[in-house]
Amino acid sequence: MPINDIRKYDLTRIVDNRGNLTYIESGKHIPFEIKRVYYLYDVPGGTSRGGHGHKKLKQLIIAISGSFDITVDDGCEKQIIHLNRSFQGLYIPPMMWRDLDNFSSGAVCMVLASEFYDEGDYFRDYDAFLLAVRECEQ
Ligand code: TYD
Repeated sequence: MPINDIRKYDLTRIVDNRGNLTYIESGKHIPFEIKRVYYLYDVPGGTSRGGHGHKKLKQLIIAISGSFDITVDDGCEKQIIHLNRSFQGLYIPPMMWRDLDNFSSGAVCMVLASEFYDEGDYFRDYDAFLLAVRECEQ
């Protein structure tokens, strides 16, 4: 099941009393080459993001600041993962519906992505996603 490929990565930390440092090298610390980085910030309390799936896109999601929950759903099973550490990243493989909510005040969600932005890679409709997932499984 794709949901079994979901994985929390503990990223390298250079602990320093001047402030800690974490780095990520494309294709080395995470299982894909990074083509795009984007981030969500100024998220009003009580709102949610995501609400879609991707056909090919692989992502690593990091709570750079604050915290939020990610619900992942492969069409059969759901998991809720809480992210609240700047040195942890959640790997999300393709064909996975995701919703992000419970953003803390000032939370910043950084996403490393394996592809350039392509609206054609999105499933924006949950029923279409379910149909595609079931086709994949046959
Ligand atoms: P969307 O992926 O739906 O946001 P989220 O999953 O974080 O809730 O994207 C919101 C809008 O931003 C949508 O109109 C597409 C646009 N967008 C880009 O133009 N480039 C990007 O890299 C991303 C992630 C989104």
